[in-house]
Amino acid sequence: MPSRCSFRTKVAFDLVVRQQHAFCLLEAADIAVKRGIPRLTAVEFGVANGTGLMNICRIAERVTRETGVEFDVVGFDTGAGMPPPVDYRDHPDLYAEGDFPLQDSGQLRRRLPANARILLGEVAATVPEFLQSNPAPIGFVSIDLDYYSSTKDALRLLAAEDPSLYLPTTLMYVDDIQFREHNAFCGELLAVNEFNQEPHLRRITPYNFLRKRRIFTRALWVDQVFVAHILDHPARSVAAEPATRTRVLDNPYLAAV
Ligand SMILES: C[S@@+](CC[C@H](N)C(=O)[O-])C[C@H]1O[C@@H](n2cnc3c(N)ncnc32)[C@H](O)[C@@H]1O
Repeated sequence: MPSRCSFRTKVAFDLVVRQQHAFCLLEAADIAVKRGIPRLTAVEFGVANGTGLMNICRIAERVTRETGVEFDVVGFDTGAGMPPPVDYRDHPDLYAEGDFPLQDSGQLRRRLPANARILLGEVAATVPEFLQSNPAPIGFVSIDLDYYSSTKDALRLLAAEDPSLYLPTTLMYVDDIQFREHNAFCGELLAVNEFNQEPHLRRITPYNFLRKRRIFTRALWVDQVFVAHILDHPARSVAAEPATRTRVLDNPYLAAV
């Protein structure tokens, strides 16, 4: 029997595989609709053999059908697997050089839709190149690079001069923070914390109260969703377009007297 459940309902009930991608892409598109942005960039850092990237592509297509917002999907990877770890901060206890190679980049490229591409090389080099390419505003960034050092380089994506390159609240998924060994002094979390100390107006925080807003409140992925706050975005400026009318708060106690 064909499913009559809408895409939004499936996302709400965690029925779309890789729930984090579904939630973040749909939320980013909803923000884009409100801001009149017709096209977004969705980024995956760390592609390996491309399961996550292909999943993002498929979900992006469904989100486009739902919202009308189109996506460019961009995956970043060395292509050769993990580089050598720098020190304990890269979790050599969990990951090693050469892990997770992209075994057949030709095959993956052939299977990707026309709106998706992979940028091969160290993110330290490919991110600055990508930022020069005049991309559509970045609405979603998935970090699955495992290492502190790689994530540190990848987060340059969120520090470009032009704040219009992002949504004012850009959705993020930070993958490698869930094992017992992960902590705020190593890995992806350390890179996020250091990013938040830098002298710019970009800050990455967990998505406020997301767990309480979900139907399945025990789902693990919820703790891996973050928001990149673009504090210098024109939408967050005092000079931003004023509200069309002054908002007034009702006081029901006054009416009851
Ligand atoms: C765990 S895998 C990604 C898995 C993938 N997201 C998936 O869903 O199947 C991590 C990937 O990060 C890539 N990587 C790690 N450090 C990198 C760096 N400095 N530059 C580019 N890619 C890097 C590795 O090549 C590896 O393929």
